[in-house]
Amino acid sequence: MPNNFSWRPGSALPSIENHSRRKLDVLRDYLNVYFDTVVTNPRQDCLNITLVDGFSGGGAYQGSGSIEHGSPLVLLNAVEQARERINRNRKKPLDIKARFVFVDDNINHVEALRERLFQEGFGALVGTEISLIHGRFSAELPKILKLIRANQRVGRSIFLLDQFGYKDVPMSSINSIFSELERPEVLLTFAIDSFLNYLQDNSASLDLYRQFGIDQQFITEWQANKSDEALGRLITQRALMNNIQSGGGANFFTPFMLWSPTDNRWMMFAHMAQHQAARDKMLGVHWAAQNSFKHIGKGSMFSLGFDTRLIETKDSLFDFTEHDRTKLRDELLEEIPREVSSFMVNGYLPVEMFLERVGNRTAATNSDLFSAIKELSIAREIEIRSKSGAFKRVGSQVGKNDLIYLPLQRTLFSLK
Ligand SMILES: C[S@@+](CC[C@H](N)C(=O)[O-])C[C@H]1O[C@@H](n2cnc3c(N)ncnc32)[C@H](O)[C@@H]1O
Repeated sequence: MPNNFSWRPGSALPSIENHSRRKLDVLRDYLNVYFDTVVTNPRQDCLNITLVDGFSGGGAYQGSGSIEHGSPLVLLNAVEQARERINRNRKKPLDIKARFVFVDDNINHVEALRERLFQEGFGALVGTEISLIHGRFSAELPKILKLIRANQRVGRSIFLLDQFGYKDVPMSSINSIFSELERPEVLLTFAIDSFLNYLQDNSASLDLYRQFGIDQQFITEWQANKSDEALGRLITQRALMNNIQSGGGANFFTPFMLWSPTDNRWMMFAHMAQHQAARDKMLGVHWAAQNSFKHIGKGSMFSLGFDTRLIETKDSLFDFTEHDRTKLRDELLEEIPREVSSFMVNGYLPVEMFLERVGNRTAATNSDLFSAIKELSIAREIEIRSKSGAFKRVGSQVGKNDLIYLPLQRTLFSLK
C-alpha cells in the first residue's frame, strides 16, 4: 500500500494527492445534492439512511497547511450539514436518521479513524450511530445488508467503495447490494488502467477477470487496440465499464475518470444507481464542478474525467466545459427525434421512458434534455402532449409525465 494511504494512531498523517482530493470533492458535492433533493414531500418528517464506507481509511490527511478530511468525515459532515440546511426553511422538521458503517481491514487504520472521530467531536456516536468494523468489506457485506434490511423499509443507502485497486470489490458484492436493497447507490473506485495493463493471455481463465466479463475475445480486442494509446484504451475502458454496469446489476452508471500522476494512469470513480434521477444528480455535480468530459464519437456515451495535468499545464478546463455544452446541445437537437422514433411504441414515447433510455448514453442533465425537447417542439420536429393525450401549447414547459409524439409530416427544415 502506498504511503499516501497509511495511518497509525498518534502518528503523522499521510499527505493527500490532488486526484484523491477531487474524488472527495465529488463525494461531498454529490451528498449535498442528494440530501437537498431526496425529500421532495414537505410533509415527510423522517429520512432513514445508511452510509457505508467499505474502505474507510484513517479519516484524515495532511493537506498543505491544514488537515483535510477523509471519506468517513466527509460522510458525517454531509449529514450534519444537511440536517441544518434542510430544516432552515421547513415548517415540519425533517429528522435524518443516519447510520454509518465504516470498514477497513487494517487495524491501524481503524484505530486511527477512531482517534480522529473523537478529535472531531463524533466520539459519542461510536458504537451507536457509527459502527467501526475491522474486516474485509466483501466478508462484512452480508451482515451490513442484513442490518439495513432489518432497520429500513426501502433500504435507502449509499455505499462508498473506495478500494485501492480493482480486486477488493467483487462483482458479486455489487450485485448483492443491488438485488437485496431497493434504493442503494454505489460509488466505486476502480483502477481501470492497472486492470487493463495486467490483462494477459491467460486472464480469461481466471475468476478475478471473468467476473468483469473478460473473455478471450475481450483480450484479443484489447491487444489489437492497445497500440493506439488514446482511442484503443478509451474503447476498452468503455467496454469494461459496460461489463461492470451489467454485471453489477445497476441500471445507471456514471463514470468519472481521475488521472493519477503518481501512478501515471487513469482511475475510475463510478456512480451506480437504479434510478435515472440519481444519475441526473451526479451529472449535475460534474457539470457544476466543470469536470472535463471525454467522449467517443458523436452521441455515444460520455466518460467524465478530471485530469490534473490540465491544471499543471494551465490549460483551461472551464472553456472546455462550455464548449462541450454547446456541442452537446446541437447533438441533442439532431439525435432526439431519432431516439424517440427508435423507442416509441404506438406512435409515442413517455418523457420518463425517454430519460431512462438515453440516461446512460449522454452527459446531458434532465434540464438540458427538457430544453432540447422544448426547442424541438417549437421547431415542430416533435409534439408534446400531456399524459391524457391533450396537445400542449408549443413552447410550454416539458415535464416527466408528458408524452413525445413524432408529427406525421416532420418539418423539412433541420435544426442546427
Ligand atoms: C484508498 S484507501 C481509502 C481512503 C478513504 N476512502 C479516504 O477517502 O480517505 C483504501 C483503504 O482500504 C483498506 N482496505 C484494503 N483492502 C480492504 C478490504 N478488502 N476491505 C476493507 N478495507 C480494505 C486499506 O487499509 C485502506 O485504508
